[in-house]
Amino acid sequence: MVRLDKYLTDMGCGTRREVKKLIHQGRVTVDGQAAQKPERKVEADCQSVCLDGKQIGYEAYEYYMLYKPAGVVSATVDSECETVVDLIRNKKRRDLFPVGRLDKDTEGLLLITNDGALAHRLLSPKKHVDKCYYARVQGTVTDADQKVFRDGVDIGTAEQPEAAMPAVLEIMKGSDISEIRLTIQEGKYHQIKRMFAAVGKEFLYLKRERLGSLRLDNRLKPGEYRALTDEELKELKNL
Ligand code: URA
Repeated sequence: MVRLDKYLTDMGCGTRREVKKLIHQGRVTVDGQAAQKPERKVEADCQSVCLDGKQIGYEAYEYYMLYKPAGVVSATVDSECETVVDLIRNKKRRDLFPVGRLDKDTEGLLLITNDGALAHRLLSPKKHVDKCYYARVQGTVTDADQKVFRDGVDIGTAEQPEAAMPAVLEIMKGSDISEIRLTIQEGKYHQIKRMFAAVGKEFLYLKRERLGSLRLDNRLKPGEYRALTDEELKELKNL
C-alpha cells in the first residue's frame, strides 16, 4: 500500500505540495471516485489512479541499461551538464540514479535504477562483482603489466599507497596503441586510469562492457537505453 500523495509524487506528477493541491482540487480519482485525502492508502497493483482522467500506472522500481556516451556526467542532477539520468526520457520514477560512476569521457554500460539494495550489492567490493572494460592505451601493454595487475597494483601516492584488488588483464593487441580488456571487482575513483598510470601508460579510450551478468546490448548506440529484461534482472539479483 502506498500513500496517494507519494504514489503521484513517485510517478512524477509534481512535488508533494503540488500533488496535495491536485487532490484537494478534485482532479485525482481512485477507482473512479474523487479522492479527498492525500494520506489515503492505495493498493498500487490493483487500484486505478487517474489524474484529470488519465490513468497513472505505478512502478515501484525501474531498471534501465544505458549506453553512456562520452560528455555526459554520471550524476542525477548537474547545474551545467546533461546527466545520465536526463538521458532516460520515458522514466516514470523521479528517484533514479546510476549504479556506480563512469568518468565524463568514459563510455559504455551503466545501470540506472532506484533499487538501492541491488546497487549496493553490485558495487560492494566484498561481493566481487566483475566490472569489465575495453580500453585503448598508448604504449605496449605487456605480460609484465598483466602480472602487476594480477598481484594488485599500487594506485596510491608515495605518501599514501593504495593497493587495487587483483585484476584480470587480457591483451588483445600489444603495440604502439594497445587494446585490452580489464576486469576489476571494485570501483575506486579513476581506477583504471590510475592502474595504467601506475605502469607508465597513457590511457586513450575506455568503455565498460559488462557489470556482473549484465552485458551492454550491442544493438544500443551511445546515448540509447532500454529496460532490462526479466531474465537480466533475475540474473543480476542472483549474483
Ligand atoms: N576507471 C576509470 O578510470 N574511469 C572510469 O570511468 C571507470 C573506471
